[in-house]
Amino acid sequence: MAILEVKNLTLRFGGLTAVNNLSFNIEENSITSLIGPNGAGKTSVFNCLTGFYRANEGDILFLGKSIKKLKPFKITEMGMARTFQNLRLFKYMTVLENVMAGMHCRSGAGIVSSILRLPSQRQEERRIRETSEKCLDFVGILDKKDRIAKNLAYGDQRRVELARALATQPKLLLLDEPGAGLNHDEKMQLIALMQKIQEQLGITIVLIEHDMGLVMNVSEKIIVLNYGQKIAEGTAEQVQNDQRVIEAYLGKEEEEAV
Ligand SMILES: Nc1ncnc2c1ncn2[C@@H]1O[C@H](COP(=O)(O)OP(=O)(O)OP(=O)(O)O)[C@@H](O)[C@H]1O
Ligand SMILES: [Mg+2]
Repeated sequence: MAILEVKNLTLRFGGLTAVNNLSFNIEENSITSLIGPNGAGKTSVFNCLTGFYRANEGDILFLGKSIKKLKPFKITEMGMARTFQNLRLFKYMTVLENVMAGMHCRSGAGIVSSILRLPSQRQEERRIRETSEKCLDFVGILDKKDRIAKNLAYGDQRRVELARALATQPKLLLLDEPGAGLNHDEKMQLIALMQKIQEQLGITIVLIEHDMGLVMNVSEKIIVLNYGQKIAEGTAEQVQNDQRVIEAYLGKEEEEAV
């Protein structure tokens, strides 16, 4: 079953068409990569899916329902989470606090009980803390939970972001260049972690990534964008041998000659 259906999605910024009549499906519990040259529109697609940008045309069905008009927090509540191309942590908060902050959308306690510190609120707080700790454990940095986020190594900061996304208990996880800035060993660990998220938590993953080694290693399906349009979709082998993909990355011979 498709957990996500993108139908003829178009997003314009003035005269620039960042996403152009794009359609694709994401199957439940799969790992898919969205690739393409710089400026191809990959992050813009994520921004439309998560409600950060409003698409000009087309529709997005998540779990069979249109989310095109929903606000970001509603989409998070439905079970979509993301990480960002540039880290967006609360630098001066602890690792645990960063993850707990991500769980706000799942917190059922109202403002009155929060102010009065009612037992229900304390229970809620405990539940949020426990889930956050579980997520930190899952990504392998529970021992660093009380450290200030900005003092962590870059690779660990990326893990905090991942734990924060997991804490919202998503069904679909969107990762925008999770491998950026990681060394070879850290990339290998990231691949293992994504597979663990898929297998043990049953979460569907879509990642944007420039590292072809990583993409080819982890993806069941690859979608290739160029100038906002889908130019290929298929297995690693299929897209690697696709003439349009080769041209998009290497340029056409005629263009190179100019
Ligand atoms: N908020 C915005 N306002 C105007 N133009 C934008 C905005 N966001 C993106 N764009 C433009 O839309 C196009 C697609 O950008 P986008 O960030 O989606 O590309 P990308 O594929 O994620 O690239 P990269 O690999 O460099 O991250 C680019 O031409 C970009 O300059
Ligand atoms: Mg991008």
